[in-house]
Amino acid sequence: MKKIKRNRNCGELRVSDVGTTVVLTGWVQKRRDHGGLIFIDLRDRSGIAQIVFSPDVSPDSHESAHNLRSEYVILVRGEVRQRPEEMVNDKLKTGVIEVYIDHLEILNRSKTPPFMIEDNVDVSESLRLKYRYLDLRRKPMQETLMLRHNISRITRDFLNQHGFLEIETPILTKSTPEGARDYLVPSRVSPGYFYALPQSPQLFKQLLMMSGFERYYQITRCFRDEDLRADRQPEFTQIDMELSFIEEEDIFSLVEEMIARIFRETRGIEVETPFLRMSYAEARDRFGLDKPDTRFGLELQNISDLAEQSQFKVFTGAIASGGTVRGIRLPGCAAYSRKDLDNLTEYVKIFRAKGLAWLKVTEEKKIESPIAKFFSPELLDSIRKRLGGNPGDLLAFVADTAEVTFEALGNLRNEMAKRLGLIDNNLHHFLWITDFPLLEWDEQEKRYVALHHPFTAPREEDLVRMKTDPGKVRARAYDLVLNGSEIGGGSIRIHREEVQKEMFSALGIDGEEAKNRFGFLLEALEYGAPPHGGIAFGLDRITMILSGASSIRDVIPFPKTQKATCLMTEAPSRVDRQQLDELMIKTQIVE
Ligand code: AMO
Ligand code: AMP
Repeated sequence: MKKIKRNRNCGELRVSDVGTTVVLTGWVQKRRDHGGLIFIDLRDRSGIAQIVFSPDVSPDSHESAHNLRSEYVILVRGEVRQRPEEMVNDKLKTGVIEVYIDHLEILNRSKTPPFMIEDNVDVSESLRLKYRYLDLRRKPMQETLMLRHNISRITRDFLNQHGFLEIETPILTKSTPEGARDYLVPSRVSPGYFYALPQSPQLFKQLLMMSGFERYYQITRCFRDEDLRADRQPEFTQIDMELSFIEEEDIFSLVEEMIARIFRETRGIEVETPFLRMSYAEARDRFGLDKPDTRFGLELQNISDLAEQSQFKVFTGAIASGGTVRGIRLPGCAAYSRKDLDNLTEYVKIFRAKGLAWLKVTEEKKIESPIAKFFSPELLDSIRKRLGGNPGDLLAFVADTAEVTFEALGNLRNEMAKRLGLIDNNLHHFLWITDFPLLEWDEQEKRYVALHHPFTAPREEDLVRMKTDPGKVRARAYDLVLNGSEIGGGSIRIHREEVQKEMFSALGIDGEEAKNRFGFLLEALEYGAPPHGGIAFGLDRITMILSGASSIRDVIPFPKTQKATCLMTEAPSRVDRQQLDELMIKTQIVE
């Protein structure tokens, strides 16, 4: 007998197909046995079609259909018919038709799945991750991965049209400092030596500029061993690019056009360009964070000058030791109970704040607070006015170093906007953050570290300060922020060897170490390196925002947990003694 082959997709059948004979394949989503008739929702990648087994059409198929269960894989042939009016399902694109089956082949059976393959499953994420291949059968997951594919496709189309070449760079390589720990891979042929998985293709893309490729891109995996959060994974994907003979403005306009195209073609969202810009200093001053969510207000206010005049030791003490006192207004939160307030205090402590001081604004615009006694009535009124406190508001303050104060209040601001429902999810606020400092003082290590990476160019006019006042040197770096999420970052690079050496020395990397770690780069800079710069976007984060996912794991086919494990493959895992012996590796772990 001639083999019957699928000729249509389930989800594409319409009323115009009525009367035709179709062959469909897919999974049994649901079976309803109505005695005489058996109805099955048949699912393939394109969607769902209702198929019907009737003893009048094919007694044999009807008989076998009794055996069908969820997730059985089948092939069916039948005639497309219009559904009776009362059976039409408006929720399905194929809801007007059904297919009467005259031939059924069971291609495979399935055990009862650990959870139903439905849009909303009410099971733990760990179960979904353990059976990820089943989880990925669900429509929202399929749609997200299709969206992800489309973002990559549009990006490639755009960059190809703009003269970029897609060039691969090594995965087994040497450490590229992007601020995280490296994942190391031992070398068998060189015992005791290790490759590092790239934290980004940073150095290679710069070298490609030195090789004369002028415009490079790659949609590539990066690896960083860092503490994981809702928007961080140990391996994630960058849309990475680098260009020669360009300046900041060229990158901004190119990237804005690319992003606008991605938003338009995937979601029909018209993005306004050019994007707004804000300096790093302004972002921190107004919003606490260098990736501000500007979709809502609740801006930070500096009250140091007023706090200084109080008798409240927490405030005066912080200022005396060079710190700052800042606050935010939390609208309508004056009714907060002791417990609610403790909860807010616990929240800011995550960010190393020592506490949260608060003032409640009463109906008469008076202040209620256990610390009110340390302030004159006039002072309290000035503070209230500075924050724009209205009756019913809670005013919350942190006194600490600028670093801690910004971090704590910036995060509290985001958290409270969420809790108070102040965020309009239809808004897309893009913002370039510019004028970053080149270096940041690391209190623990007692040395300067690069705020971006050590290959970022300082502003030409600030070069003179590299030795005298390195903390004041501004970088030619930029981040792109969308709705409070850092979706991209890049810079104009150092292309002169002497500047690169000076940068290493500012970072406390001496000549010998620089040569050991980055000798190849320093050498390449000696052979006519063109001026160049670039940027990299977090593809996962862009997909998160466009799909509305709240966890980065929902946009990655096979993600890792918070503990960087894969619940499906159970990676990382122990390896055989023999494998370790071959690598000449001894572990301290006792079996
Ligand atoms: P950066 O370190 O800013 O820059 O990374 C670029 C973008 O990658 C995304 N990203 C992440 N996404 C998910 N999980 C992570 N752990 C993670 N880390 C970063 C962010 C970020 O904006 N080489 C430079 C780029 C350059 O200078 O051209 C770099 O890697 O969206
Ligand atoms: P205490 O003097 O420790 O009893 O604190 C009085 C109030 O000030 C409490 O609400 C604390 O949470 C708050 N507080 C303590 N330290 C700080 C700080 N560094 N910044 C803001 N508020 C603080």
